[in-house]
Amino acid sequence: MGAIDWERRLFDELIPLPDGTSYNAYLVRGSEKTALIDTADPDQSAALMAQLDDVDHLDYLIIQHVEQDHSGSAPLILARYPDVQIFSSPKAKPMVSDHLGIAEERIHAVEDGETLSLGNWTFEFIHAPWVHWPETMLTYLREEKVLFTCDLFGSHLATDELFSGNGSPVCEPAKRYYAEIMMPFASLIRGHLKKLEPFDIEVIAPSHGPVHDHPTWILDAYHHWLNDKPKNLVVIPYTSMHGSTGLMVDYLIEALNDRGVHVHSFHMSKTDIGEYAVHLVDAATVVFGTPTVLVGPHPSIVFAAYLTAALRPKLQNAAVIGSYGWAGKAAEKTKELCGSLKAEWMDPVFTKGMPSQDTYAALDALADEIASRHKELLPGA
Ligand code: FEO
Repeated sequence: MGAIDWERRLFDELIPLPDGTSYNAYLVRGSEKTALIDTADPDQSAALMAQLDDVDHLDYLIIQHVEQDHSGSAPLILARYPDVQIFSSPKAKPMVSDHLGIAEERIHAVEDGETLSLGNWTFEFIHAPWVHWPETMLTYLREEKVLFTCDLFGSHLATDELFSGNGSPVCEPAKRYYAEIMMPFASLIRGHLKKLEPFDIEVIAPSHGPVHDHPTWILDAYHHWLNDKPKNLVVIPYTSMHGSTGLMVDYLIEALNDRGVHVHSFHMSKTDIGEYAVHLVDAATVVFGTPTVLVGPHPSIVFAAYLTAALRPKLQNAAVIGSYGWAGKAAEKTKELCGSLKAEWMDPVFTKGMPSQDTYAALDALADEIASRHKELLPGA
């Protein structure tokens, strides 16, 4: 159940959705009890409520995650089924009240591993915080070996294909989703995957995008994204006002390519930040390219630096290159904005006005340093 949102193009007023998205809800009818897992974004609640027209009675509403794209139609569910009992994690209980105005007495907080019988079928609740808020939990339907995961293993993809099959059309949206939503919590997700190992899982049912009827591919993909070493790749988020920084970026790309290093540059005034996030999953090095504006980095690079640090990628190395008109501290301020980034910083390269032969020599030295670090990190690179 739920809704396919074909037209949505932005999530959280931040994340581009080139392929739309869906808000999946799941009606589970046991021999004695009926439960609904998750709801739909309030913008799409009419679709969900129409689907429920044939459902006379609902015993349980499982809220796995309080973010409104999944819980936002819960007040309408309560209005239609006044006796429905809500199940959520203990952390979610006050949040459901805060965000949806539902009295806490209506909510039963489940312990990790607690079960709920539907008659012939049994739910087991699995606490899994930070996928993607602190209150999130998963729900395992034991007899049918279905794991409901809400945001985890999801993809922002509007499609009428119910299942992801072998994964090929869904893998790229799923990776983009991982980069944008899950990557900041990678260390916790490694623990969650370990916790899921004893479970026999035949189907993974997330609340965005298709259901994984052959879940091995998405589990393997998550293992790669979480655990693989970064690749021989430099990402360059940059912008240029009068051409100097642009010339430096072009030169550095060629210098790195000459040394066998792959590069992907992103003009931050034009780029799709989801594309940037996807490349951060694999990149070993980031080089920010910025002109100087009012002593500091260009505002689009302020955003890039903040975003890069917030996404907590596996980056090992970082540097800043750019230009200034008369003076500035763009390199220092960019580094400050990346405070939580666990990367080793290389010397910045800056030019006053147009780049000179000395500037290009310094960029060659930076390219040498990056290539050498990549060889050390990734033998064979
Ligand atoms: Fe899809 Fe964190 O909500």
